Formats: sequence, structure tokens, C-alpha cells
Amino acid sequence: MPFTLESKTALVTGAGRGIGRAIAQKLAEYGASVMVNDLDAAPAAETASTLPKAASLAGDVTDPAFPAALVKGALERFGSLDIIVNNAGYTWDNVIQKTTDEQFQAMLNIHLAAPFRILRAASDWIRDAAKRETAEGRRVMRKVVNITSIAGTDGGAGQAGYSSGKAGVIGLTKTLSKEWGRYNVNVNAVGFGLIETRLIQPMNPERDTSIDVQGRKIKIGVQPKMLEWAKTACPLGRTGTPEEAASAVLFFASPLSDYVTGEVLICGGGLHF
Ligand SMILES: NC(=O)c1ccc[n+]([C@@H]2O[C@H](COP(=O)([O-])OP(=O)(O)OC[C@H]3O[C@@H](n4cnc5c(N)ncnc54)[C@H](O)[C@@H]3O)[C@@H](O)[C@H]2O)c1
Repeated sequence: MPFTLESKTALVTGAGRGIGRAIAQKLAEYGASVMVNDLDAAPAAETASTLPKAASLAGDVTDPAFPAALVKGALERFGSLDIIVNNAGYTWDNVIQKTTDEQFQAMLNIHLAAPFRILRAASDWIRDAAKRETAEGRRVMRKVVNITSIAGTDGGAGQAGYSSGKAGVIGLTKTLSKEWGRYNVNVNAVGFGLIETRLIQPMNPERDTSIDVQGRKIKIGVQPKMLEWAKTACPLGRTGTPEEAASAVLFFASPLSDYVTGEVLICGGGLHF
């Protein structure tokens, strides 16, 4: 192994399933302790149970009070916070004329406001730790990886809210890279193309593909025609796996990226909308 994350603590939101779970597993494979968060308690606990040094804290990252509790929970459990992956998210798509205010705002809340609140909640501890380490003559790099999408960088038809949230988090990423460089924090984003999770399952009129978010049923999935188009348009000719997605995140969570900050890495097999 060219590096280890042995002494590091990671916080991964939305890690009960899909890409977040693969990220938690990948960071753990390299030795990190992981605080697993998800809206759904059972999948969060299940992810944590598969990892050697992990705990789970279920909760809704869009609840304005929860991000501070999540950061506090990670610090109380592990005593430090070195890698933050803002991954929790979902799609709530429609063409603009059918997009409600609530729907648009929900996409900004989960993809932009939640990462903002989590990073703001972590800022006191991160700044204090960096000041202490600098006074001791040590440089300890910490990592923020915000998850975005080619819908954010390219725009996705039928995704005014999702694309806006995913574009917004790039602004947050670039801004924090400037504010936190002095505290030795690399702040980057990884944007995915089509990765095989429940979010891109083929829509089927005979099968309910809705997910439950805060008691509301939200239709997710992708039209089969769109999936076929994406496979043809993608230079690598296929969708990606959660493990492949997690590998891109690992780069930004590892010392391999110690001199990279404020950047967006697209992990999408070359696909662009
Ligand atoms: N799958 C793709 O093709 C794709 C493409 C681009 C970007 N993304 C992004 O990757 C991230 C992970 O998505 P995925 O494909 O693994 O989806 P997923 O549905 O498999 O996993 C997302 C997890 O986030 C959790 N979550 C949702 N809302 C939450 C909340 N308010 N608080 C805490 N947890 C919450 C869900 O319960 C779920 O377990 C998302 O930000 C998504 O927008 C995915």
C-alpha cells in the first residue's frame, strides 16, 4: 500500500447504501475509523457492522440541528475528524414547469445546505487542531470530499433542483479550499456520471421505484432509453460500480492528493450530458 489511513477518522454521510457504503468500506480498507451516517438507521448500522473500526449515527443531514450533532458524535466516539465525505443525496426530478418550490428547495437542502452545515459544524475543531499542530511544528493534512455530479457540471434535463444543488456544492468546495488551505485541509469534489445504485435503476411502470424520504414517496430511477443512450455516449461504454466511484473519492481522501485543492474530479467513464 502506498499510504495508510490508519490514524484517520472519516465521517461519511449517506453511507447506508450505494456509493456512500462503498466509500466507507474503501476508507476502512485503508485503515480509517469511520463514522457512518444515513437517514435510515438499519442500513447505517449494517454498513458499520461490516467495518473493523466504525460506529453509526442515523439522522437526517437536512435537519438544521443534526449536522452539529453528527460532528459532535464523531469527535466523541473517535477523538478526531480527518476526512469528511458529504455524500448523502437523492434525485427528485421533473421538468421545470412541473417542479414545485418544495421540490427545488429539497434538492438545495440535501446537496448544498447540508454539506455547508456539516463543514461549518466541523470548522471550530478543525481550526483548533491545525493551530495546535502548527504550533508543534507538524503539518497534518485533512480532507473534505463533496460529492457532485455531471448534472452539476453539465446540467441535466429534468433536474433543475438537483443540478443546481450539485453545481452549488462546487462553489462551496472552491470557497472552502481557499478558507481552509491555511489549516492544511484539502477541499475537493468528485462528480459522478452513472453509477450502479438504486438512483439509476431502470424506471418500470409495473414496479414501484420510489424511495421514502421524510415520509414522502419520491420516484427515482432513470428511463431505460436514457440508460441505453448513456452507455452508447460513454467512452467506456458502461455504467460504473460503487467501488469504482469510491476509488476516485479515496484519491482525495488520501495523502496522494495532499497538494490538490479546490478541484472537481469527474468519475463517469468519460460521459458528459
Ligand atoms: N448513482 C449515480 O449515478 C450518481 C451520479 C452522480 C451523483 N451521485 C451522487 O452520489 C451520492 C450517493 O448516491 P447513490 O447513488 O449512492 O444513492 P443511494 O440512494 O444508493 O445512496 C444514498 C444514501 O443517502 C441517504 N440519504 C438520503 N437523504 C439523506 C439525508 N437527508 N440524510 C442522511 N442520509 C440521506 C440514503 O438513505 C441512501 O442510503 C448522492 O449525492 C448522489 O446525488 C450519484
